[in-house]
Amino acid sequence: MAEQDQRNSESFTLTNNSTGDEFELQVLNGTVGPKVIDVRRLYADTGYFTYDPGFTSTGSCESNITYIDGDEGILLYRGYPIAALAEHSDFTEVCYLLLYGELPDKTQKDKFNNDITYHTMLHEQLNNFYRGFRRDSHPMAIMCGVVGALSAFYHDSLDISDPWHRMVASYRMLAKIPTIAAQAYKYSIGQPFIFPRNDLSYAENFLHMMFATPAEDYEISPILARAMDRILILHADHEQNASTSTVRLAGSSGANPFACIAAGIASLWGPAHGGANEAVLNMLQEIGDKSNIPEFIAKAKDKDDPFRLMGFGHRVYKNFDPRAKVMQETCHEVLGELGVTDEPLLELAMELERIALEDEYFVERKLYPNVDFYSGIIFRAMGIPTSMFTVLFAVARTVGWIAQWNEMVEDPSQKIGRPRQLYLGETYRDFVPVDKRG
Ligand code: SDX
Repeated sequence: MAEQDQRNSESFTLTNNSTGDEFELQVLNGTVGPKVIDVRRLYADTGYFTYDPGFTSTGSCESNITYIDGDEGILLYRGYPIAALAEHSDFTEVCYLLLYGELPDKTQKDKFNNDITYHTMLHEQLNNFYRGFRRDSHPMAIMCGVVGALSAFYHDSLDISDPWHRMVASYRMLAKIPTIAAQAYKYSIGQPFIFPRNDLSYAENFLHMMFATPAEDYEISPILARAMDRILILHADHEQNASTSTVRLAGSSGANPFACIAAGIASLWGPAHGGANEAVLNMLQEIGDKSNIPEFIAKAKDKDDPFRLMGFGHRVYKNFDPRAKVMQETCHEVLGELGVTDEPLLELAMELERIALEDEYFVERKLYPNVDFYSGIIFRAMGIPTSMFTVLFAVARTVGWIAQWNEMVEDPSQKIGRPRQLYLGETYRDFVPVDKRG
């Protein structure tokens, strides 16, 4: 959308009530969603910064990829509703959609699948990086290290201004992230790495690399493969969340995509973000029994207690996270397929959700279950250890990070991200020699 098209007749007049100075600020329209007040000239024209720690009211970029309506609980990937994609599409098709903006036709889909499949193996030299970690290292630490190390393998052949180089780097990252993740798991349990197989789908390949051993054939459950594929779709992208903004900011300096994705992984690890799925399961295990729920609800409401109800709340969603609904349905499917009829953690989660959604504190603050609330229960039922939950989130979100990174690099108006501050420190003072201090 050309910038001129975004402008409309709407504008704001900013008046300095002390001096009477007035400044006009143009409003820009998106195709849908909140309009923005263009403050790009504010500092140059007024000498003032805007102030918005946490970026609660700040649009950082233009994007065509993902749209979220937090009040209505809407999530669209390139205009397609997440529930429709989760039900009718598959993860590599969604990767194509996020990267190229359109669903692929059969020929495009087959070629894309083939291109990704034939890049899933890692350089054998890369496997040495695993040996440097303790076996009990958190797999997210290994992901940060090994993905960052990809820069050492491809950095010198990567001209990010060259679309072909960007596409090759994107495909390499997409293809290799499941292999890197599965190897992080295998390394943590002392089992040999399992090579990817070219006859398997993306989700099947990931399950195979996670759970197969050289000693016997591993039979992939179609239901679990479908569930994994759907979970990858649900986590693939989410507008300008903390880790995506980290990737964009790192990329704005011209850093190579592998280093940027490693930065995104580091940001995702936090318990307030992608680390929440692991924190939810730890929280449910700490609550232990339904009888303890009121105590934990009280802790979550106590401002003097740092405890928060993990898996609840969201900066954007002030309604149900549409992904949480699909995750809850998938949870029941997976447990049913596995013959798990009495998963106490699921019973506990559903009771916790019921109580919280009737509690004024949560209702008033519009705190609903988010994507992380049920995912941990599914992963645990699938035999995935808690420490790998955020790794799975990173595997899925890599396509979103890559799509957003490409969009940023291709944006002709893109420049290095360099926020300013409200300075509250010491003003100028002369240096004092040590013998004159104190
Ligand atoms: C993800 O951004 C994305 O899109 C992220 C994500 C993605 O796909 O990339 O969707 C993935 O990160 C989902 C969120 C996973 N995190 C958690 O489940 C951790 C628990 N949630 C909270 O930490 C919190 O809700 C956040 C971090 C998710 C959102 O925090 P905000 O937007 O900064 O909201 P806030 O801290 O200003 O909270 C508003 C009020 C506060 O109370 P008051 O000061 O108004 O009295 O709600 C309270 C908060 O104390 N609150 C909670 C709460 N979340 C917010 N109180 C108890 N339990 C909670 N979970």
